[in-house]
Amino acid sequence: MSREIKVGLLGFGTVGSGTAEILLEQSELLKRRSGLQIRLARICDKDTETPRGLELPPGILTDDVNVLLDDPEIDIFIELMGGLEPARTFVLEAMKKGKHVVTANKALLAMHGREIFGAAEEYGVSVGFEASVGGGIPVIKAVKEGLIGNHLTTVMGIMNGTANYILTRMTDEGLDYEDALQEAQRLGYAEADPTYDVEGIDTAHKLTILASLSFGVKVELSDVFTEGITRLSLLDIDFARDLGYRIKLLAIARNTKHGTELRVHPTMVPESHLLGQIGGAYNAFYIIGDSVGKVLLYGLGAGKMPTGSAVVADVVDMARNIASSASVQTSSFGIPFKSLGSPDLIPMDSLVSRYYFRFSVLDRPGVLAGIAGILGDLGISIESVVQEGRGSEASVSIVMLTHEAEEVRVSRALKKIDALDVVSDRTVVIRIEDLQALEG
Ligand code: NDP
Ligand code: HSE
Repeated sequence: MSREIKVGLLGFGTVGSGTAEILLEQSELLKRRSGLQIRLARICDKDTETPRGLELPPGILTDDVNVLLDDPEIDIFIELMGGLEPARTFVLEAMKKGKHVVTANKALLAMHGREIFGAAEEYGVSVGFEASVGGGIPVIKAVKEGLIGNHLTTVMGIMNGTANYILTRMTDEGLDYEDALQEAQRLGYAEADPTYDVEGIDTAHKLTILASLSFGVKVELSDVFTEGITRLSLLDIDFARDLGYRIKLLAIARNTKHGTELRVHPTMVPESHLLGQIGGAYNAFYIIGDSVGKVLLYGLGAGKMPTGSAVVADVVDMARNIASSASVQTSSFGIPFKSLGSPDLIPMDSLVSRYYFRFSVLDRPGVLAGIAGILGDLGISIESVVQEGRGSEASVSIVMLTHEAEEVRVSRALKKIDALDVVSDRTVVIRIEDLQALEG
């Protein structure tokens, strides 16, 4: 029997308590499966009083992170406190002291990945980040190991549990946006600042990590075109449903012969497509490789236990490497981080898509003709128009679907339309993906 592997955990919140629960309550299962004794030796949180529904070994809890960092017997440092600082400093400090690191912190990796993976290479330790993308879905392992023999051309999907939960509750039950968000927060899906979830930032963090890994380039957060779901209303959800679509916050990364496309935005996808069927806090990753073809990974993308499951998977992987004195390469980024070049980005302006517009306008004669004129002048062809008296008395909604149009022309048209006196609110834009083109 090899030596005991000791683990220190920083952040005893939603994911931290799920992780601790698995490490403590499933230690026999982990020992049977891995052949290793993995011991949760220390837990650090600012709050050592609040009960977490777990029976902890005596003396394990501390509010001083240095107790973990300075303990030479702790082999693996789990960072689940979230945020950029001081998480970054603690992670770097742990690596400097020779500890391997496991983190679920996608914001940290998306913003400081170069520094963190660089430090791991310098200090000869590994960084496990399975939980940072897709909650309990082993998507990092799939891309890094299971699909290693492929050139990946497309990685797309639903990558934020909170946003998908909100959209699903709005679609299926007509629940109000704010109520759905509060429920997602209560269930432990949302980030400390839920703006990250609903503005698409968390999804962009995940796409930054996943696209870097999938395409072997260093994607920066600023490379990802990002739009969230905050401007959508029940009206848009109803219109989409009437038209046979579901609105999803979709993340799309594609490597084409013209370059790399990276975008996150609300998207109308056919209700009948697999991605249209993903509900609640579930995530789905649709990956296309040149050898494997299409792969779909589906599971809970957020929450205490699913995310804890992913953290524990990394801990066991690392423990195995430590016990066998294997090279750290298998559990780090997979590709030496410093060797990553930059992606050849396709500008968002050159995207060609079909569009859904919802104009909020004063119900006056000639309004529709004015809007149609601007679109026509820019060569944007209208597929269908619906005017519904579903708005307030002062303004009505006109919904338009377009044929394929170039994003740059759409932006120009909307700038002109939104400046019209009769337009009472900024136009809601949703890109429509029938998905065959992306799958090709
Ligand atoms: P929580 O806010 O529930 O937990 C974080 C915990 O860390 C809190 O108890 C917090 O205390 C504590 N903490 C914060 N700063 C310090 C500090 N300086 N020293 C000690 N303790 C500290 O967050 P989550 O568990 O939801 O998220 C943790 C990480 O996991 C984040 O990076 C998040 O993005 C990621 N993640 C979350 C998922 C989820 O479903 N929730 C899924 C996948 C990833 P206090 O509350 O007092 O600030
Ligand atoms: N807030 C994130 C989500 C947690 O809702 O998907 C999982 O990364």
